[in-house]
Amino acid sequence: MNSFIEKVDFFKGNNPEDIAVRYGTPVYVYNEEILRERMHTVAQVVTKYPYTANYSIKANTNIHLLRMALEEGDNCDAMSVGELMMLEKAGFPVERIFFVPNNVSADELQYAIDKGIMTSLDSLSQLELFGQLNPGGKCAVRINPGVGAGHHEKVVTAGKKTKFGVAEEDIDQIFEISKKYHLTIAGINQHIGSLFMDPEPYLKAVENLLRIAMRFENLEFIDFGGGYGIPYHKLDDEAEFPMEDFKKRLEPILDAFVEKYGKAPLFKSEPGRYCVAEGSVILGRVHAVKQNAGVKYAGTDIGMNVLVRPSMYDSWHDVEILRNGKVVERKELQEITVVGNICESGDIIAKNRQLPEMKVGDLACVLDTGAYGYSMCSTYNSRPRPAEVLIGKDGSVKVIRRKETLEDLFRYFE
Ligand SMILES: Cc1ncc(COP(=O)(O)O)c(C=O)c1O
Repeated sequence: MNSFIEKVDFFKGNNPEDIAVRYGTPVYVYNEEILRERMHTVAQVVTKYPYTANYSIKANTNIHLLRMALEEGDNCDAMSVGELMMLEKAGFPVERIFFVPNNVSADELQYAIDKGIMTSLDSLSQLELFGQLNPGGKCAVRINPGVGAGHHEKVVTAGKKTKFGVAEEDIDQIFEISKKYHLTIAGINQHIGSLFMDPEPYLKAVENLLRIAMRFENLEFIDFGGGYGIPYHKLDDEAEFPMEDFKKRLEPILDAFVEKYGKAPLFKSEPGRYCVAEGSVILGRVHAVKQNAGVKYAGTDIGMNVLVRPSMYDSWHDVEILRNGKVVERKELQEITVVGNICESGDIIAKNRQLPEMKVGDLACVLDTGAYGYSMCSTYNSRPRPAEVLIGKDGSVKVIRRKETLEDLFRYFE
């Protein structure tokens, strides 16, 4: 593919150069149409049985995106009291929120208990704590199914060597603790990891969780977790996650379970990335070009504080080059390493890429930044966080989070 942003008309007729000048670079730019389409798609994964997709808001907590998820029929899951409050502020009723924290304090659990928010406990000790705080209450337990999957070991969230969930061999202790505190285990959940393009490991994990579910009586819900991937190599024509094929293969697995269990509980999933990743790009300015030891660098203002995924996970993000607001055609390519403005040698956005020539003043447009982009931003090197701008379905452009100022950096000093 020569250009994704041209193919989908990402800027909806707006000139990206105008956006960059008006809002400053770096800037996160979102496309409402893509976001809503993805949020709607995940809500339809299961139609035969009761089902909800819980958008996993750690991927992106911008309140405007949360309101879109609400309107597109998604529920949400949250990892912290901050995320719970964000959802309440966005207008989510408590029954559409699932709290899936790990290693939280009694105060944090108490917050969810007081609000009546369904909570999943991630360990036997947290279940015990929940029982002490809320005897006779209702909750869920996160199971560690013993197998994981994902694009990097840091995002594999199940398997014997991760910190998450209760191992299958400890399930009897779940029953003991729930008996002791008269708790009702209303649901079980899992999340095996992030970014799989092949549905097979996820489907296997669904089957496995459903096998484990047979040990629990009267479950109200079973949550299979998130992790649906998106094609980060789209300029090399990587295919989308095969959602239709996945849905077709999931249904008979659920059929078999419902028959054996004698009823259909509410099935849930927890996609984060799939909902928001492709609905955002970052525009950054090229401020320097240089050659060091034979390596050509393009120095931009997209530092690792703005987008940490490449330096944290070695993640790939496609980059398009814009000159005077127009995409520079991908021909006569040269090897360029696109870097940021942070004082770290790991501050690399795209290493050894085949790109058209990059000149000072060009814009680098980094694709697929909607998930784990802004939500993982920091002010490292005392750089304020960037603005987030939304291109509406009608082509309108509005700021949905203002750019931080240098003064903001001093706000918390006593
Ligand atoms: C418990 C849980 N659910 C859902 C997700 C969302 O994963 P993804 O964004 O890959 O869909 C995560 C990601 O870390 C997670 O830890």
